[in-house]
Amino acid sequence: MDRPKILATHRLFEESRAKLSEYFEVEYWSDSDRPARSEVLHRIRDKEGLICLITEKIDDELLGAAPHLRMVANIAVGFDNIDLEACTRRNVAVSNTPGVLDETTADFAWTLLMAVARRLIEGDALARSGGWKSWNLDQLCGADVWGKTLGVIGFGRIGRALARRAGGFSMRVIYSDAVRAPSEVERELKAEYTERDELLRQADFVSLHVPLLPETRGLIGPRELAVMKPSAFLVNTSRGPVVQEAALVTALEKHQIAGAALDVYEREPQIGHGLLRPNVVLAPHMASASVETRTRMAMMAAENTIAFFQGRRPPNLVNPGVWTK
Ligand code: DGY
Repeated sequence: MDRPKILATHRLFEESRAKLSEYFEVEYWSDSDRPARSEVLHRIRDKEGLICLITEKIDDELLGAAPHLRMVANIAVGFDNIDLEACTRRNVAVSNTPGVLDETTADFAWTLLMAVARRLIEGDALARSGGWKSWNLDQLCGADVWGKTLGVIGFGRIGRALARRAGGFSMRVIYSDAVRAPSEVERELKAEYTERDELLRQADFVSLHVPLLPETRGLIGPRELAVMKPSAFLVNTSRGPVVQEAALVTALEKHQIAGAALDVYEREPQIGHGLLRPNVVLAPHMASASVETRTRMAMMAAENTIAFFQGRRPPNLVNPGVWTK
């Protein structure tokens, strides 16, 4: 019997390739650079399944070019690259990879927070430059992390994992979210629910953990940045467009905040020139990038795809409207 044809826009890891080869005829994009849009539109024509990254825009144009497509497995927890409504309308199932990257992403948010507060990147540059002459009392003094207030905006799995780490640094944790967490979670994490503006006023570190939705796009703009303390730092590992980048640059220029540590940007992979400052730590969207986690994410996408084509509901289906069985 013919096996379903799948397009994978990345070469994936060996483990998931082996698994997929048991069930599908898979065409891989094997360059390390992402495929051009025209390549994807061309290669998707005869495929029933697509395994893709967040760099692939899954919209009406792509769906129109893919008359046989029935399933899209995104290798990411976020799926703002996918027009979910268009997929549902065309009866195309969509899955994501929740849960497996929470701790790894929280680790990285913490890394960014520490790096910007303690000026690690500036220190590394000085150490490598040959320009370090001697120990000096006021050299590269940063801000303490321990004992400070951490403000977590978006208190889902990743926000909570970050809050847990703050306990080891004797920090006070405040959070804001559209929905207040159950009291046992607040107790366990010693986290206080706080209105967003109040959080921005009080926090020494503001870390963003919301998905990109119409209501979170541009969430942190001129007004929010003006409310933050001049000594506070902004950390973003969520999605770039949650922060109005031009407003952030202005706030940094005017010393309205002390610095920022960013993993995501408004127009990836472009990074606005105004962000190239010593008090900004920049990373190329790598918060979930540990070998273990990325391997698990790819495997999860494979498992969702296999489930779908075996007639089982994919465990991480995000548009249940397509599932009528
Ligand atoms: C996600 O999973 O949404 C990340 O941004 C990519 O790891």
